[in-house]
Amino acid sequence: MELPNVLREALEEELKGASQQALLSAAEKISLRYRSRSGGLYIQNRQEALAYALSRMPATFGAVQKALSYTLEALEGMPEEKKTFEAPVSLLDMGAGTGAAVWAASELLELSSVTCLEYAPAMRETGQSLLRHGKGVLEKARWKSIDLVSGPVEEKADLVVASYMLNEMDRASRLQVAEKAWQAAEKLLLIIEPGTPEGYGVLRDIRRALSERGAYVLAPCPHQGDCPISETDWCHFSCRVQRSRLHKMAKSGDAPYEDEKFSYLAFVKEEPLKKEGARILRHPYIGKGYVKLELCGKDGILQKTLSKRDGELYKSARKKDWGDWLEF
Ligand SMILES: C[S@@+](CC[C@H](N)C(=O)[O-])C[C@H]1O[C@@H](n2cnc3c(N)ncnc32)[C@H](O)[C@@H]1O
Repeated sequence: MELPNVLREALEEELKGASQQALLSAAEKISLRYRSRSGGLYIQNRQEALAYALSRMPATFGAVQKALSYTLEALEGMPEEKKTFEAPVSLLDMGAGTGAAVWAASELLELSSVTCLEYAPAMRETGQSLLRHGKGVLEKARWKSIDLVSGPVEEKADLVVASYMLNEMDRASRLQVAEKAWQAAEKLLLIIEPGTPEGYGVLRDIRRALSERGAYVLAPCPHQGDCPISETDWCHFSCRVQRSRLHKMAKSGDAPYEDEKFSYLAFVKEEPLKKEGARILRHPYIGKGYVKLELCGKDGILQKTLSKRDGELYKSARKKDWGDWLEF
C-alpha cells in the first residue's frame, strides 16, 4: 500500500522548509500525549499536524483503504433491491484529522461530496491544505469545526467514517459520538481503530451498543451474534505500508515498509445477506500441499486445513490472506 502520488507530492510541498529535528520532536510530543492519555487536543499546532501527517497518515490511509475494500466486497452480497447495495457517493469523515480517510475512500469510490468534521484547528488547516492539491471532490471538500461530543452532527452522508478517533474519548462520550455517527450514516458506517486489545475493546463495546439501535454488522463479522473471540485475544487485521524517503525520516528508521495493525467494523441499516464462508483471522500457514487457516464463521471460530484433495477450495485458499473472505 502506497500513498497516491498527488498526496505524497502534496505532503512534500507542505513540508518544504520544515526542519527534520523540529518534526521529530513534534512527533515525540504527540506520542507522549497519546501514551499518557493527557486528554484535550493531542495535536496543537501546525508543526505537530505536519508531524502527524508524515508519520501516521500513511498507516491510517492504508488501514482505512483496506477496511473499506473488505467492506465494499461484503456489500456485494447485499440483495440488489436493497438501497444499501449501491456504492456510497457521499462521505462524512468524523474526526478527519489530516484527511487520510478521505484520500483512502476516494481511491475506491466515485464520490460526489465530501464533508470533514474536526475540532483541532491545526489538523483542519493541514487536512484542508493537503486536500486542495487533490482534484474535483477532494479540493471541494467542506470542512467544519465541531466538537463531536458536545455539538450536534447535522450532516448526513451515504458513508460515515470515524478512523482512529473514538479511542481518544472516554467511554460515555465515545458511545454518544458513535450513536451520532450511526444517525448520520444513510447507508454505511465504518469505524476503524488501532489493532490492539484496547482498539478492539472499543469496537466490541460500540458493536453491542449500535446493535441494540438496530445496526447490522456488514464486515468483518460473518454473523450478527456476539463476537466469539475470547477475552484474551482480539480481532485485528494488518496492512503493509511502503515508506517514502520522508516517512523513513519521520520514523528515524530505514525499514522500507511498516505493518499497520487495525481493527474495524462496518455497519449497515438493513440485514445483510452474507456470502457463504468465513473471514480469515490470521496469516494462513502454507505448508507443502496444504494450507492451515483460522477462520471466523457463522458458528464461531474454526480451524481448517485444506489440501490438494479439496480441489478448487484449496487453490482459492492458497491465494487468500489474513482478513480476506474465504467462500466455501
Ligand atoms: C488520531 S487522529 C485520526 C485522524 C484521521 N481520522 C486519521 O485516521 O488519520 C484523531 C482525530 O480526531 C479528532 N478528534 C478527537 N476528538 C474529537 C472531538 N471531540 N471532536 C472533533 N474531532 C475530534 C482529533 O482532533 C484528531 O484530528
